[in-house]
Amino acid sequence: MQNDNAALAIDGGDLALGAGLLALVRPALDLLEPGGVLAVNSVNRSLRDDLPRWCQLQHHEYRERQWIDSGYDRHLIARGSLSLPRGKRECNITLPQHDGQIFADDVLKAIPMPERADPTSGFAPRGAQVEPGGPRYPFSLLDREHVSPPEIAKLYDQAVAAQWNANTDIPWQKTPKLPDVIERALGQVFTFLAENELSALYLPSKFISRIHPAYVETAMFLSSQMADEARHIDVFLKRARAGGGGLGVSSATTSQSLLSLLELEDFTEAAFLLSVLGEGTFLDLLTFIEEHAPDEVTAEVVRRARSDEARHVHFGLVHVRHALAHDTTLYHRLEAAVRRRAVTLSNVSGAPAPLQDGLTILAAGSTDTKAIARGHEAFRELLDTMHESRVKRLEHAGFTAEQARTLSDLHTPNFM
Ligand SMILES: [Fe+2]
Ligand SMILES: [Fe+2]
Repeated sequence: MQNDNAALAIDGGDLALGAGLLALVRPALDLLEPGGVLAVNSVNRSLRDDLPRWCQLQHHEYRERQWIDSGYDRHLIARGSLSLPRGKRECNITLPQHDGQIFADDVLKAIPMPERADPTSGFAPRGAQVEPGGPRYPFSLLDREHVSPPEIAKLYDQAVAAQWNANTDIPWQKTPKLPDVIERALGQVFTFLAENELSALYLPSKFISRIHPAYVETAMFLSSQMADEARHIDVFLKRARAGGGGLGVSSATTSQSLLSLLELEDFTEAAFLLSVLGEGTFLDLLTFIEEHAPDEVTAEVVRRARSDEARHVHFGLVHVRHALAHDTTLYHRLEAAVRRRAVTLSNVSGAPAPLQDGLTILAAGSTDTKAIARGHEAFRELLDTMHESRVKRLEHAGFTAEQARTLSDLHTPNFM
């Protein structure tokens, strides 16, 4: 391409219109504003008819043909304004590298998210020019402050870096042969954990398809969370069976509690109830299991799961804090969501009995009655610890101390 008195000129050689010339003409026109003139230099005589006809069809203006002495035609085309893509062509984007890596956070900084997103841009990636006339997509999460906290791409980068392998990163070969009563307790605890992990896999999946692609980093983070939950389900079920304990009981309490999560329709309420309150409470539960783990494999699977969960909780916290900062009515909505859920669980008085027993035996380490008394006490302390941490987390999210205590008390006895 060369510049002359037209805004832009291309050399078409002897290419016919239907033999590839358009691959030069169309991108060159895309670089022009409406009315901008492109010169097409060509020795192909068929263009004298073909190019004006093509311009008419594409709503560009064929201005004139000039005969140049050295034996070629110079066709002048003014760019039309019909089907002009929205937005400007990206140019001069530079993405910094860190030891050869390009982070999503730097991409986000280079191409920031819009405050509101347009559902007629479909799956166009943020930054692409969008040809008008596309259909409206059924995305309902179209508002940055309720979808994407500023830290979202950083959290995604962290998630990418922290992925681990459920086969090679767990020392499965060290699975011991423990007394049956301990294996059965482990089987029960991991049955409960896996069941709750399943809800943490399904709930975010419900919202991904509602998120406008302008906020794709949130969808990407949620998909990393889903990969994490899939891995947790995998390792928890494997550990339940690896020592011969097998799965235990799925209780009606858990089932009822998780249904009330799955039925949430508001993304921020879901992030609050699942990640801040539910996964937050699970951090203490996983710490408890690690502290009382009877073997290295158990300790390792819960330790690794806990470190993933800390990231999910962090997402929940920054999401809720960011949304609260931009929407003062949200406090009441979140409190109302906790209260509504508590009403549906009003017939549930405590943690599922099989889980209580499993955790007590794990903490006891045997069926010796003195040990069981200690295990029982440890379980009671766990409930207190969970409450205290929830209150701190709620205060951190922006609730007052009093609201935080109330909301923590109303949280499901199923922990998630
Ligand atoms: Fe998990
Ligand atoms: Fe999680």
